[in-house]
Parts: sequence; structure tokens; C-alpha cells
Amino acid sequence: MANASIIDGKAKAAELSEEISAKTSELLERTGVKPGLAVVIVGEDPASQVYVRNKKRTAEACGFHSVQHTLAEESSQDAVLSLINDLNNDAAIHGILVQLPLPSHLDELTITQSIVPEKDVDGFHFKNIGMLTAGHLDGAFVPCTPAGCMLMIEDHLGKDLSGLNAVIIGRSNIVGKPMASLLLKANATVTICHSRTKNLPDVARNADILVAAVGRPKMVGGDWVKPGAVVIDVGINRIQVEVEGETKNKLVGDVDFEAALGNAGAITPVPGGVGPMTIVMLMANTLQSAERAAAR
Ligand code: GUN
Repeated sequence: MANASIIDGKAKAAELSEEISAKTSELLERTGVKPGLAVVIVGEDPASQVYVRNKKRTAEACGFHSVQHTLAEESSQDAVLSLINDLNNDAAIHGILVQLPLPSHLDELTITQSIVPEKDVDGFHFKNIGMLTAGHLDGAFVPCTPAGCMLMIEDHLGKDLSGLNAVIIGRSNIVGKPMASLLLKANATVTICHSRTKNLPDVARNADILVAAVGRPKMVGGDWVKPGAVVIDVGINRIQVEVEGETKNKLVGDVDFEAALGNAGAITPVPGGVGPMTIVMLMANTLQSAERAAAR
């Protein structure tokens, strides 16, 4: 039985995008500053190319100055660092994003930390991580995926999550850990689970808010979901399915969506849930960076 309301991330992202466009025009008129976003991609990973194209399209729709730098797969570490240095010093650029994963010969940590914190719209710089962890959200950039998840959670449960249990499956620096900081700041009681967690389904069943961010197709079964829980599915997994004798590619989340519908109070679909929200939060961070630059 399907009880859950389906959280329409695509519609919410479109609304936010309209708001960002309006604020962008206002900022440009008032200060002459146009938000500038630079996206750097190294190599030809097909999934990354799709993400980068979507980011560029959304940035242009918001009225931003949008530039993309595509570097060859075999680019040296120095070449990437030199490009980032140029972008750090370019007054027309307010946000810099290096699409991950990088080719294995490159040092991801050195590269992500070389972006100045003021333009680190991904929120990966240690200064931004530190500020988020310490609960100082005003001056920091919050990573885009958890920021988008949080807005959807607030829509259903309000800004104060006192007394609610939040369970995050996945301990990544991009999603799991910053998600925990945001939920904690909102007064939730937070548990982070991972591959070494014992009795994971039992822990999940205790969650009023369940965030799945592991990258394993349909890992979270319907019976892992507490009745009425808000379920946020961050997974984007490409699987092959048989449709009328033909093999087709399909996108699925980390949650078995159909099975979870009966128990969940609200749930994000894949696609159309977290994904569109992530991209729009990148635009929100870039606009915020441009507003801070204009105020300086
Ligand atoms: N690759 C997958 N997710 C992300 C993200 O949030 N930021 C960047 N830069 N690369 C990614």
C-alpha cells in the first residue's frame, strides 16, 4: 500500500532557481556584480560530463557568468593547480568547482584544498568543513547535496528537529558527515552508519529521518523504514533491467522505492529528488559568494 507523499525535488529546485534568478538580477542592478561559476572537469568520465553539463545549463538559466574548463585526462597536477590559481585570482569568478572523481594520478586532497575558501562553493575546504562542524553556518559554504536534503527535510518537519532520530547511512565527506552536522545543528539525535555497522536494518528502523547515501542500488528495504519516516535517497545508481526482452539502463536510488512507499511518510524519488536540489544549491552558494564579494 502506498502511503508516502513523494517529495518533488525537481519542482522545489525549479522554484528556488526562479528565486535565485530574481536575486541575481537584483544584485547585478544594485552593485554591477554578476555571479560567476567556474567548473573544472579533468578527463572524460561520462557521468561527470552529464553532471557538468547540467550545472552549466542551470548556471546560465540563473543569469550567471558560467565557464567550463575541460582538461585532458593526462593533465598534470601542476596544470590543474595553475588553473585553480588563475580562477582564485579572477574577480569575475565567485565559485570554483572541480568535478570529482579526478583521474587517479591526481591528488584530490591537494587540489580541492587549493581553492580559496571564499570561492569553495562545494564546501570541501577544511575551513568550510570546520565552520560547519562548529555550527557557524553563516560564514561557511555548506556542501550542496546535504544542504538540498536539509531543505526537503525542513519542508516536512520544520526547522527544529528536537526529539527526532536521524539515521544517515554512509560516512562520506561529501554527504554523510556534513549531513550529520546539519541535522545536529537542527537538534536531531544523529546516528551515522556505514559498512561496519552491526544490525543496520534495526538501526534504520529507529529513524524518523532516514538518509541513504551509500551508492548501492535498492539496499534499503521497505522493512527498514519506520512507519511515517521521512526518507531521503541520495543514491544515483545505474542498473540494467529487462523490459519486454530488451536490456535497458535505469537510474535507481539506494532505497527500494516501491517497497518503502508503504511505510514512509514522505520519500524522495530517484531521479527527481535529491539530484535537482544539489545543482540548485550550488547556484545558491555561488550567489551567496557573489553577494559577499559585492559587500567587501
Ligand atoms: N562528484 C559527485 N558529487 C560531487 C560534488 O558534490 N562535487 C563535486 N565537485 N564533484 C562531485
